Amino acid sequence: MAMFKKNQSQNHTQNTLSLSADEIDEIVRPAPEKTDFDEVVEKAMSRRDFFKGGALLVGTGLFAKSTLVAAMSKNQKSEFDIYAFENVPANSKDTITLPKDYQWKPLVSWGDPLWSKASQFTNTEDFVAENQEWAFGDNNDGMKHFTIDGREVLAINHEYVNMASFFHHHESKSPQTKDDIVKTQQAVGVSIVEVKEGKDGWQVVKDSEFNRRITALTPMQITGPARGHNLMKTQHDPQGIQSFGTWANCGSGKTPWGTYLTCEENFNGYYGSKNDLVKVSDELKRYGLFAKNYGYDWHLADERFDLEKTPNEPNRSGFVVEIDPANPNSTPKKRTALGRFKHENAEMVIADNGQVVVYLGDDERGEYLYRYVSKNRYHKNADIDDLMENGTLYVAKFNENGSGSWIALTKEATGMDMAEICIHTRQAASKVGATTMDRPEWIAANPHKAEVFCALTNNKNRGIKPNAGGDAQPVGGVNPRQENHYGQVVRWVPKNNDHIADSFSWNLFVLAGNPTVHKEGLYAGSKNVNSDNMFNSPDGIHFDSQGKLWIQTDGKTSNKDEFAGMGNNQMLLANPETGEIKRFMVGPQECEVTGFSYSEDGKTIFVGIQHPGDKGNSTFPYGGVARSTVIAISHKKGYQIA
Ligand code: FEO
Ligand code: CA
Ligand code: CA
Repeated sequence: MAMFKKNQSQNHTQNTLSLSADEIDEIVRPAPEKTDFDEVVEKAMSRRDFFKGGALLVGTGLFAKSTLVAAMSKNQKSEFDIYAFENVPANSKDTITLPKDYQWKPLVSWGDPLWSKASQFTNTEDFVAENQEWAFGDNNDGMKHFTIDGREVLAINHEYVNMASFFHHHESKSPQTKDDIVKTQQAVGVSIVEVKEGKDGWQVVKDSEFNRRITALTPMQITGPARGHNLMKTQHDPQGIQSFGTWANCGSGKTPWGTYLTCEENFNGYYGSKNDLVKVSDELKRYGLFAKNYGYDWHLADERFDLEKTPNEPNRSGFVVEIDPANPNSTPKKRTALGRFKHENAEMVIADNGQVVVYLGDDERGEYLYRYVSKNRYHKNADIDDLMENGTLYVAKFNENGSGSWIALTKEATGMDMAEICIHTRQAASKVGATTMDRPEWIAANPHKAEVFCALTNNKNRGIKPNAGGDAQPVGGVNPRQENHYGQVVRWVPKNNDHIADSFSWNLFVLAGNPTVHKEGLYAGSKNVNSDNMFNSPDGIHFDSQGKLWIQTDGKTSNKDEFAGMGNNQMLLANPETGEIKRFMVGPQECEVTGFSYSEDGKTIFVGIQHPGDKGNSTFPYGGVARSTVIAISHKKGYQIA
């Protein structure tokens, strides 16, 4: 197989191997350097007054002991209190650490065959070449559980490719041939797998009729306001109604009508050009499109990803995609009405009056938090396409006094038509004075009350420089720390407990920090952070059926300096009523913990271990090459835990 001829812009691949997608994005696409110091200083001053006044609810007064949650945490076996475990000590081991009395097992790892026509995983190049299409993808991320005709099915995202593992055979640890690239295109997207518990624990049901791989090559239907718009038309799809594939599948969502929502996040990193001087529109630059890519080099094998040959193709990614896991032959639908940005997850709730509400975050420094509200109402015979195509997108404004509002992205407010709003959503949001955020990651709505949480993972540019659109990132309010290395979780309560209300009140549920390094001040974290549970960069947050909040991290794992005592990435369990947070699990080396779901009976939780050893220092889970893996965790006595 002929090797690629790469241009200069591809030479960064090796240097960036040890960086996260986010870090690469920052190198490839630095934000403008201009800093509005006046505004930063002014906001910092008002922030100090704000904290002095105690208006921000960080601290002990926030949380009341609740008998409701105490009751919820005790299930049918009344002696069991899930909050009673001891904090798992932080560590840098290359394995899973759980509280006493809990156990774990790998459920499915990158390369495991989903059909018997694929052979068992081996650490060889040939294996990947011949099997990836029929095997579990790489870098599992968001997932949801479905019960279909009494059978249990998981839909699981594959966000990107861990090149250190995937190309461990190549000295360059990067794709060298067209075949290599096709393999990576087959390794992203989504896996739908039936799972079953047997005497050896949970296993994938090979050859199940539900099993499906959706990849960067699978036909997709474009729906909603952007369908057929000129910006969506390419030489491969002159009508702008059908695209191929989904990738960068990060967070996820689930609808009450039984479908899966997969969210396209860092889609930009797959496009490139051999011409370093290729002209890229300002609209695309806002989304991080440049001649350089993340090192996947798809443009060398597939002209859809060549910015010179197919300049409109990037407009067809960055969406939420709806998939019916019960019908393996269904065509996934790109839901453009939910906006185009670096989607983290899609948290859907049905408002009291039946309107569909979807909370959505754009994970980039200084980008925005969104809400979609359908025009019509959900009921048993509702037209689902209508609910997901006709609605209004809003963007959040958080005031410093703990109030907030949703600003509608309408033609009047933005000067853009609906299709443009749904394609250039970041530009629309910039026009209405919304709040630039510290990287909105997962959003989770409490199933038992009207309150919503969002993890704001970190933002080293807060108070330093504007976002890529030039919008200021002042310090204050919901983003209270300059150069925020630790992250926070914000909670808001919609007015009148109504998810379609246009205003809300907010507070910070937790401000992550390091109270052993910083004895006081905001970098010590909020009072529900201590030396036994500290963490950085909250990312995945998930409610279970009992109303408990699970927090997963994707942060720095050096375990020294600012991050001393935090160890590897981890998963914590939070009580949303009391604010108590405990460390439940520590992951293996160089992994991110992301993706959470649980079995129908709530006795097993499925947790994603993504890119263990992404700097080459893990053999998780079986020894040998490190493999992203979904693990199954249960209590040894079989209690319900989710
Ligand atoms: Fe894929 Fe923002 O995490
Ligand atoms: Ca994430
Ligand atoms: Ca993250």
